[in-house]
Amino acid sequence: MKVFQQGTVGGIEVKNRVFRSATYESMADEGGRVSPAMTEMYTGLAKGEVGLIITGYLCFASSDNPSARTVSMGSDADLSALRALTDAVHGNGGRVVAQLAHVGSQLHGAPSGEVFAPSAVVDPVSGILPTPFSAGQIETLVAEFGEAALRAKRAGFDGVQLHAAHGYLLSRFLSPVYNRRTDAYGGSPEKNARILSDILREIKGVCGPAYPVWVKLNCDDFETRGEGLTFGGMLVAAKALDAGGIDAIELSGGTFAGAWTPCRPMKHESYHLEAGKALAAEVSAPVISVGGFRRIEAIEAALAGEGIEAVSLCRPLIREPGLVKRWRQGDRSKAACVACNGCFNPKGVRCFFDLKGEEREAQKQVMAAMKGKA
Ligand SMILES: Cc1cc2nc3c(=O)[nH]c(=O)nc-3n(C[C@H](O)[C@H](O)[C@H](O)COP(=O)(O)O)c2cc1C
Repeated sequence: MKVFQQGTVGGIEVKNRVFRSATYESMADEGGRVSPAMTEMYTGLAKGEVGLIITGYLCFASSDNPSARTVSMGSDADLSALRALTDAVHGNGGRVVAQLAHVGSQLHGAPSGEVFAPSAVVDPVSGILPTPFSAGQIETLVAEFGEAALRAKRAGFDGVQLHAAHGYLLSRFLSPVYNRRTDAYGGSPEKNARILSDILREIKGVCGPAYPVWVKLNCDDFETRGEGLTFGGMLVAAKALDAGGIDAIELSGGTFAGAWTPCRPMKHESYHLEAGKALAAEVSAPVISVGGFRRIEAIEAALAGEGIEAVSLCRPLIREPGLVKRWRQGDRSKAACVACNGCFNPKGVRCFFDLKGEEREAQKQVMAAMKGKA
């Protein structure tokens, strides 16, 4: 059965095809370092036999405004705590990929400095009118992606994933609504995708061609403000990255301001699977499908035949880090997660159903404020 088939996906040897999709932790120590609680969480996922873990987004760029509890990949001083995390995962038989991101203007809190984006288009989430990147700032950003990837490699990560989905900076470059540039980095699907190819080339140059570089893309932004990124634009970016040697593509969809967020309610199952299959028919890189996988039968069906090489799960593994092991051991009942999105917790990602007393009441208020946004 392919679910538990060992093999190489995207340049990384994995023990099965059920991965953990990137999950922002909101758990970094002061100074943006990995906290012991975070290492413990990753240890639990590795012990739970998750085939491969993608970290929550990590930030590093001098032009970015990540919130205080985001892990920093911006300096060598941060490496020892990252190394403790990768050692813990490897020590328990797991694999771990670092997700590299730039938040752009889709900030969920107050910025600490000037906010940059592809173009000066008001962000519907933060309400901020960002400053467009200059050509020189794009060059700096590309170089910083390379430096961050090298740090990830030195910290023991098995690869990196570029976060180009969900409305954060790189995904905004792909959207005609947010990218109004008329230079080499905007104006056509090919130009909108150029920054991604530049970053890929930089990382492969700095880390070596064998170091796995993955990308997370949106199949569609489900944009409500005009003609945003749709399947065709994504395909242009995916094909350019494929030609540049991208090692794997994880296909998601939605933003925090569109008709659909990436985290849909329970009634939606395997909701980007068809787009993932259509993408897999067009590229040689392996495609990973994310979004709404809850039942092992649905995962088996997704992996049957040619096309999807792995699936990734986020919310079900917050509720049950041991889910994959449970399925392998024969208890095939469906994931306990009810997709309530109560795991978006500013005090640290946790399943809502694990909260008690005051913590639970406080989180209910966060959920009410978030209604319709996640
Ligand atoms: C609490 C939380 C944090 C998330 N953080 C990230 C992130 O850092 N990077 C990312 O690409 N996606 C992030 N996502 C989206 C998930 O990776 C995934 O695409 C989405 O939840 C759909 O998968 P699911 O139905 O298995 O939860 C997050 C989702 C949740 C619920």
